[in-house]
Amino acid sequence: MRAVVLDEERRLQLRDVPDPEPAEGQTVVEVRAAGVNYADVLIREGRYPQAPPLPFVPGSEIAGVTAEGRRVIGFVRAEGGGYAERAVADDDWLFDLPHGASFEEGAAFLLAFLTAWIPLTRQAVVRPGARVLVTAAAGGVGSAAVQVARALGAEAVGAVGSPEKAGHVLGLGAVSVLTYEELAGVEPFDVILDQVGGEVFAAGLELLRPLGTIVGVGFAGGAWPTVDPARLVGRNASVAGFYLGRLMRFRPGLVREAAGELLERWAGGSLTPVVGATYPLAEADAALRLVADRRSTGKVVLVP
Ligand SMILES: NC(=O)c1ccc[n+]([C@@H]2O[C@H](COP(=O)([O-])OP(=O)(O)OC[C@H]3O[C@@H](n4cnc5c(N)ncnc54)[C@H](OP(=O)(O)O)[C@@H]3O)[C@@H](O)[C@H]2O)c1
Repeated sequence: MRAVVLDEERRLQLRDVPDPEPAEGQTVVEVRAAGVNYADVLIREGRYPQAPPLPFVPGSEIAGVTAEGRRVIGFVRAEGGGYAERAVADDDWLFDLPHGASFEEGAAFLLAFLTAWIPLTRQAVVRPGARVLVTAAAGGVGSAAVQVARALGAEAVGAVGSPEKAGHVLGLGAVSVLTYEELAGVEPFDVILDQVGGEVFAAGLELLRPLGTIVGVGFAGGAWPTVDPARLVGRNASVAGFYLGRLMRFRPGLVREAAGELLERWAGGSLTPVVGATYPLAEADAALRLVADRRSTGKVVLVP
């Protein structure tokens, strides 16, 4: 089969590779679409904390068809392998693709929405009327988080790197959109879901209402600052961190429960995956560059 291999020189190349072999409790899926995630960009750049040894086939989420004809979405097994014509997934991490949904939408759904939903329902617990800030709001997780905040009855505000992305975020239901430079001095927030880290995270800490929480989910813009608990006490503020991979390992039941809640909301129409761009497998390099260069909106998807 053909797959995109990240080689020892960190080049992404379409190659012929052996078909993956499923172990017990695993299923081979004919991949119809594979989601591109920022972790893939970080792995490619050598910046991911738990990167697999090279060479390997990147890609952690897919949509496709099993040998029995079941249309599925899911996470591939831990070794990766999603950027390929066929991939193996643990049966526990396969879900039915909702009727009427495209494979591209399927590959754009799980990882982004779980990364928005679990922090906003289990960690910061967004209540109706809450004021919620989502950073990198036009991206994959961001486009999900703005919808989630809105679906929970909150007032969603987006922060983005460039003003051209504002229209995309407003279209998802945000009440307003700011650039990071415009954040200083705005009305504070009950909850901040931050995907940028660095100076944006530091600025966010100063923008919390009493009893507010900032949840760190990503560091696309730089390493997180050290947080002084004395400052949190003084401001009645909380800092939380979220990492889906670890939760899937240690709290798989909770993640599956959350996936069920999200699939129900997708079927009900209150949440919709946002596919911003689709590339053939052979153009994986261009797809990852689009995300790395901050030019993407929504999710980028590869199609074999
Ligand atoms: N903790 C977890 O379990 C988990 C799971 C999934 C994703 N994440 C994290 O969530 C974030 C979003 O992931 P995603 O896959 O949806 O990607 P994405 O948001 O579609 O793309 C990354 C975005 O980060 C923003 N960004 C800010 N500073 C940047 C910089 N210096 N270089 C590049 N991008 C920068 C850009 O938006 P602007 O130009 O608008 O700033 C860019 O579009 C990433 O940080 C990712 O690592 C974490």
